[in-house]
Amino acid sequence: MSFDQYHEPVNELSDETRTFARMIVSLTEEAEAINWYEQRISVEKNKDAKAIMENAQQEEFKHFGMDLEFLLRQKPVWQATLKEILFKKGDIVNLGKKGEDAAE
Ligand SMILES: [Fe+2]
Repeated sequence: MSFDQYHEPVNELSDETRTFARMIVSLTEEAEAINWYEQRISVEKNKDAKAIMENAQQEEFKHFGMDLEFLLRQKPVWQATLKEILFKKGDIVNLGKKGEDAAE
C-alpha cells in the first residue's frame, strides 16, 4: 500500500483532505488504466480479446467520471472552471480562459 499521495504530515491533514487525496490518486489510477487499455487495444489482433479489453476500458471511463464528479463536488472553483470547458464546442484554449474567468 502506497502513502505517496501525502506531501504533508498525514496527522496534520483533515479527514476531508485525506479523502480528497485518495480520490485524486484513484482518478490518476483510472486515467492510467484507460491509457493501458488504449495501448493494448491498439496492438491486439484477437477480435474477442480486443472486445473484452474495450469493455474493460469502458468501465474505466465510468470510474474516472465518478472520481472526477466526487472531486468537483468538493471544489466549487474547480467545478466552475470545468463547466466552461467540458462538453463545449470551440477552441479549447479559449474555453480554458473562460473557465479561469468563471473561477475568479
Ligand atoms: Fe477502474
